[in-house]
Amino acid sequence: MSEVKLYSGVKLPLEMHKVRVVQKLNLLPVEERQKAMAAAGNNTFLLRNEDVYLDMLTDSGVNAMSDRQVAAMMVADDSYAGSATYYRLEQKVCELFGTSYFLPAHQGRACESILAEAFVKPGNVIPMNFHFTTSKAHITRVGGRVEELVIDEGLKPESDCLFKGNIDLDKLRECIARNGAANIPFIRLEAGTNLIGGQPFSLENMTATAKLAHEHGIPIVFDTSLLQDNLYFIKTREAACRDMSIREITRALCENADIIYFSARKLGFARGGGIAMNSKEYYERMKDFIPLFEGFLTYGGMSVREMEAMTVGLDETMDETVISQGPQFIEFMANELIKRGVPVVTPAGGLGCHVNARKFLSHIDDHAYPAAALATAVYIAGGVRGMERGTLSEQREPDGTEPIASMELLRLALPRRVFTMSQVLYAVDRISWLYENRKLVGGLNFVEEPATLRFFFGRLEPIGNWQEKLVAKFREDFGDSL
Ligand SMILES: Cc1ncc(COP(=O)(O)O)c(C=O)c1O
Repeated sequence: MSEVKLYSGVKLPLEMHKVRVVQKLNLLPVEERQKAMAAAGNNTFLLRNEDVYLDMLTDSGVNAMSDRQVAAMMVADDSYAGSATYYRLEQKVCELFGTSYFLPAHQGRACESILAEAFVKPGNVIPMNFHFTTSKAHITRVGGRVEELVIDEGLKPESDCLFKGNIDLDKLRECIARNGAANIPFIRLEAGTNLIGGQPFSLENMTATAKLAHEHGIPIVFDTSLLQDNLYFIKTREAACRDMSIREITRALCENADIIYFSARKLGFARGGGIAMNSKEYYERMKDFIPLFEGFLTYGGMSVREMEAMTVGLDETMDETVISQGPQFIEFMANELIKRGVPVVTPAGGLGCHVNARKFLSHIDDHAYPAAALATAVYIAGGVRGMERGTLSEQREPDGTEPIASMELLRLALPRRVFTMSQVLYAVDRISWLYENRKLVGGLNFVEEPATLRFFFGRLEPIGNWQEKLVAKFREDFGDSL
């Protein structure tokens, strides 16, 4: 992948786009930020966006669209059944993935719900490189269990391993032998593993995993929601793929998969999702769930305008200059934080910059949710909204015990093509200030704890008055600055 080199030698990610539509932002004074955080139950999901300066909660559905995507939305064919828009999308998905059948769904978790309903029975085991919150919740909802088989290196926050999302093949062999192939309806492989720092797997690892699975008659389900970052990393890090085009890498990955699904809130810069496959039998097994839960087979709960944007967005995902923007900005942000001593996940992955909250706030016990506490502190310090990706995002065991997450991360998502360099540097500045003052930050306690996906709606309170002290220190150091 070619890179623009600067005369000064500075490594600067260079945008291959220009901004033509903008949205006004708001930065509240620090005292107001503390009040907004309290009103949101110390949960960044519950903040109002008007109170947020940089929304780094997620990349989901908030990536910038291109002029070509917006233009395509204007020619969408509004019809309940048989829309030309749908056939354009179906054709694009099948062209890129090399599949014959497509089922549209309103977003990624709808695909996961259908897969769980159609394939998973009580007592089944689903091996995966790593779980995603909704994928695990749907499997456990129908009585299945997840086993995570990512390589050990994948769970080390700081590493120089280039493919930390790889499956450990020995662990997989052992898992199949222990559980029996008949008890494993599928193996799920997640591109750009969300919960462990947006880390990729290699084409070589996926091919070996699929070979092993297929020898035992187990299908591979490929979650391509974060495929675009994984494609960039394969192209730039996997020597054997250096001369392959992004389209060729996509096809080579998908040839290993029996079922492919995606959240188009991520892949394709739009909002929606879908499931693609070559097997007519799998298609028939899942088809009836679409009109039951999503919508008619030619829209699956999506608006035709979004489907048009997705068709163009999927095509743009095959453009190296488009998919490089996210990982390059993330690497830049991670390097700037590392220069200031802030512990982040390395190598920098996709989706966002991941701060290692367990190390940042080493004085806070895991049960007091360091990553969630850090998320509240980063918002108070700078109006920057991140997302906790740690113990709080786990589900309690049926006996009520709380599993401690293998990684305790604050994810600062960089939605693609959305933020400018000065905004990234502003976030770096506020986080480094917080790092210098980290001993002021304390933990959190649940006040309201939902039984399912508690991180979405749970409400918490600070343990002690550390947030007031943090605000006072901000005023001392920044004077009347916002
Ligand atoms: C890897 C992965 N799979 C599935 C999903 C679920 O997709 P959605 O949010 O569209 O339901 C997500 C969402 O963040 C994801 O990151």
